[in-house]
Amino acid sequence: MIKCQTMAILLSAAVTLGAATADKYASSQDWPVAGGRGGVRYSTLAQIDKENVGQLQRAWQFDSSDEFEGSEMECNPIVLDGVVYATTPRLRVVALDGATGKLLWDFDAHRGKKVIEKQRNRGLVYWGNGDERRLFVGIDSFLYALSAKTGKPVDSFGDHGRIDLHDGLGKNAQDLTIQATSPGVVYKDLLIQGALVAEDLPAAPGYIRAFDVRTGKLRWVFHTIPLPGEFGYDTWPKDAWKYIGGANSWAGLTLDAERGIVFAPTGSAAFDFYGANRIGDDLFANCLLALDAETGKRIWHFQFVHHDVWDRDLPAAPTLVQIEHDGKKVDALAQITKYGRVWLMDEETGKPLSPYKEVDAPPSDVDGERLSTKQILPTEPEPYARQQVTEATLTQRTPAAHAAVLEQFKKLRSGPQFTPPSKQGTIIFPGFDGGGEYGGGAWDPETGIFYVNSSEMAWILRLVPRVMANRATTGSTLYRQNCSGCHRPDRKGTPPEFPSLVDIGSKLTRDQVTHMVQEGGGRMPGFARLGNAPVNAIVEYLMTGNDIKLGGAQRARKHDFTPLKYGIDGYNKWLDPDGYPAVAPPWGTLNAINLNTRQYVWKQPFGEFPKLVAEGIRNTGSENYGGSVVTAGGLLFIGATDHDRKFRAFDKATGKLLWETTLPASATATPAVYEVKGREYVVIAAGGGKSGEKSGGSYVAFALPAKSSSE
Ligand code: HEC
Repeated sequence: MIKCQTMAILLSAAVTLGAATADKYASSQDWPVAGGRGGVRYSTLAQIDKENVGQLQRAWQFDSSDEFEGSEMECNPIVLDGVVYATTPRLRVVALDGATGKLLWDFDAHRGKKVIEKQRNRGLVYWGNGDERRLFVGIDSFLYALSAKTGKPVDSFGDHGRIDLHDGLGKNAQDLTIQATSPGVVYKDLLIQGALVAEDLPAAPGYIRAFDVRTGKLRWVFHTIPLPGEFGYDTWPKDAWKYIGGANSWAGLTLDAERGIVFAPTGSAAFDFYGANRIGDDLFANCLLALDAETGKRIWHFQFVHHDVWDRDLPAAPTLVQIEHDGKKVDALAQITKYGRVWLMDEETGKPLSPYKEVDAPPSDVDGERLSTKQILPTEPEPYARQQVTEATLTQRTPAAHAAVLEQFKKLRSGPQFTPPSKQGTIIFPGFDGGGEYGGGAWDPETGIFYVNSSEMAWILRLVPRVMANRATTGSTLYRQNCSGCHRPDRKGTPPEFPSLVDIGSKLTRDQVTHMVQEGGGRMPGFARLGNAPVNAIVEYLMTGNDIKLGGAQRARKHDFTPLKYGIDGYNKWLDPDGYPAVAPPWGTLNAINLNTRQYVWKQPFGEFPKLVAEGIRNTGSENYGGSVVTAGGLLFIGATDHDRKFRAFDKATGKLLWETTLPASATATPAVYEVKGREYVVIAAGGGKSGEKSGGSYVAFALPAKSSSE
């Protein structure tokens, strides 16, 4: 526990940062932007406060009943004029009365169909002009425009209410995975949007695009993988733009509407873990991009990891903050990272406003790879997650667990950030899912304090040779070539994120498996491009074990890239033999950092395992996803923890737990705070489904007890 600093700092910060800042991005009655306006996640509502929060009650609960095995809900609802708009596990869009939870309308793009693929959605985008009010939402590879009044697709938008997200990506990407899992932003009459794409090749390029909110027409494209002649092109091999994908902005965007700048955080280039065919720094992968919202022209960029092979995507859109720098107030960005550090940068120039250092990065010993010899890390604030696994940080939960993990540790490669991926296995800490994740940070303009929740899990990155036969001729080789990187060579996967395919025939029909392989879903890309006969051979192999040999024209279609020599053996969380993290606690933390002083105000473990609590082991922290909202009532609301199903309110100044409740499923999403008819509500999605926990499909809203009319 880092010692709390005195209230004096809080008070002086409140004096120096005036109410004007608070007004700029704060939300009041409504919660109009998923993730908060400017990524700030601050509400001026103060009816629920430190004194009365203990009386908070369930005001309503909406059960969508749309959950299925493994489904999730990551949606931060938006609230306008007392109506809550949100998505369910099958990505049905619902409009709920904010005071009662009553369903006003719904829209189901999959009506009448069984949905088995987990698709993520982190929220909707609203656009209103006079009488016209629209919602935009990404479902499958489409972006829909719905009437906010009726939920009906807006016929004049795109193709009868939707546009194909492949639009503007070039002809090579037309049958590749793309989904708008995070909401975009609206600037004037433009909807600016990033997307999720595949993390292995072939992958669509992660271009940032703007569409006309009225017609759906493509208005501008920013090439995150530059074309010949464009800035950054020389940071790649010369033809890379033709075959490399990724460098996409899956985590959402932040808009400064006054300056007309959109900030786009980007992820790694595909393939994520071995970059022999993308030697160079790989701009604009792993960057924060500042683009002119009107034209899509680059204003500045800042790259956090050069030639990333650790899956160090920027996991959240930045937060617009104001900080004191050299005695002046500066409009700045706070950018969280998976590796557990906050960067502060000048909004207009992209210049870091906190000290950082260049570090020497060791070379790779894997053939064909060439890593950057230099990387950078901020030195202030201190990291919000531990940075390296050593023998001393291994679990001590039981002697047997420690011994098992120690034996593995001795065979693995462990080091500071940027330790190269290896064939023996390299420990990634914090893991592929952070550190910080899609919930982002919350900033309190009254105090200058920034809140960030973080996981502290070690993962293992192991490179394995790929099956090189470009046009493999049997079902099992096609499996090893295309599927084993995620479902593992033994087909056991790393559930629940990457399901086991052992005995898949007892769970899914042949049609369902074929559909999944062709279309993909969630983080799984579709494989229709292989052709029908190869897909059938894989399905046959999975369903019956029968290994069909394909001849001549039946073989897999040719790739337009040379297959890479190495893949990975799965996305492996490093766990002890009982399924608990291999490192010692805390496994998750909640942090409050004063951005003016760059010092921690408080820091504490966050989340618990109910099974360990029953054994008397408490405050371990746990993995957590989804962010917090800070309020003028002195509170920090957050769900997020994977295992304990809690929704909590903390004293924002001290971190003291003031209220908690148990939800039907864990709430790995960000809450929304709003007001209807003078009553303040806080609503959150209870969708579960992370880390093997059960899935849910409910939205639960809380408020203070309604005053009876006689009072
Ligand atoms: C990039 C990682 C990745 C690759 C490569 C991949 N999958 Fe998947 N697969 C997933 C994920 C993630 C899911 C879970 C999808 C969801 O969220 O519903 C999944 C789900 C499935 C399912 C449904 C399982 C169930 O229990 O519902 C099948 C079947 C499947 N994959 C088959 C394949 C086959 C066959 C291949 C190769 C042709 C393949 N996958 C390649 C990641 C991958």
